[in-house]
Amino acid sequence: MPVSLRQSGRLLLAWYRRNARDLPWRRTRDPYAVWVSEIMLQQTRVEAVIPYYERFLARFPDVKELAKAPEAEVLERWAGLGYYRRARQLQAAAKQIVERHGGVFPADYESIRELPGVGEYTAAAIAGIAFGLTYAALDGNVMRVMARLHNDGRDIGQARTRKSMQAEAQRWIDAMPVADFADFNQATIELGATICTPRSPRCLGCPLSAGCLARREGNQGSLPYKSARQRVEKLDMAVAIVERRGRLLMRQRPDDEKLMPGFWELPQYASSRIDAHAFAALGIELGERIGAFKHAITFRAYSGQVYQGTLEGERPDEYRWIHGSRLVL
Ligand code: ADE
Repeated sequence: MPVSLRQSGRLLLAWYRRNARDLPWRRTRDPYAVWVSEIMLQQTRVEAVIPYYERFLARFPDVKELAKAPEAEVLERWAGLGYYRRARQLQAAAKQIVERHGGVFPADYESIRELPGVGEYTAAAIAGIAFGLTYAALDGNVMRVMARLHNDGRDIGQARTRKSMQAEAQRWIDAMPVADFADFNQATIELGATICTPRSPRCLGCPLSAGCLARREGNQGSLPYKSARQRVEKLDMAVAIVERRGRLLMRQRPDDEKLMPGFWELPQYASSRIDAHAFAALGIELGERIGAFKHAITFRAYSGQVYQGTLEGERPDEYRWIHGSRLVL
């Protein structure tokens, strides 16, 4: 960088302090609240998180309340936010904090990193925001900022590029005065989210544009470079709606299931064709097709056909009749 690390960091922080969005988790340094926000923000947009964050904290205001709550209630407060493993791990982590740290949120990076659901990025973000510790939090936003700043065309999908960028980001934060550590990670995240966006970056409003090597070369639109994306796995399924007096036939997925353990589901089969035999094994006769859906999550793309079904005889052992009013959608 032609401008020094410290100088560009200063420009970035000055910009952040003037322009940071007023987000609810930025009004606190309570590590519990910061942690909840960072877990919710994993793979989820800021606007979607805000109402969940506020409701979650109102119901579970501290580690102890979260640790002792019934799991079903934690999941209910999470319903709609997606990636439910996060909610389960959040509670497992709260229990860990009660058992190992007497219910007080740990104040060192290693103990934070050991909490279920907390990876390097999240641990660095919490350690920085809540405790002012100097760990660089490197996510996709920050990698984009750095790749452009240095006109760095290396593949950010590769572990060694990430490792090297992690070290660069660490040098950057280490060049800052101690008092600035708490804001620094959020400032880089904010720049990546609002100015240095993936498409059409707003370079005119960028505090770092004078020293940005990608901009000088006209490369800002094509960086960062990432080699071919992970293949999407396409999954077809058929689902049956079997209704009896306002109740639906459903089963709870076993706890050792890798995807969505413990969740309730309608009778279903992974198949693009109507597999009448598969449903017949459950005593379900398929009727009319009443709908279809598509749903993409991480690298899986589901495409489902929905049929009316009738249960002949007794319900299968694993299944229960669940009243519509008990479903949280
Ligand atoms: N994404 C991850 N952490 C964030 C934060 N603290 N503020 C805004 N967006 C974020």
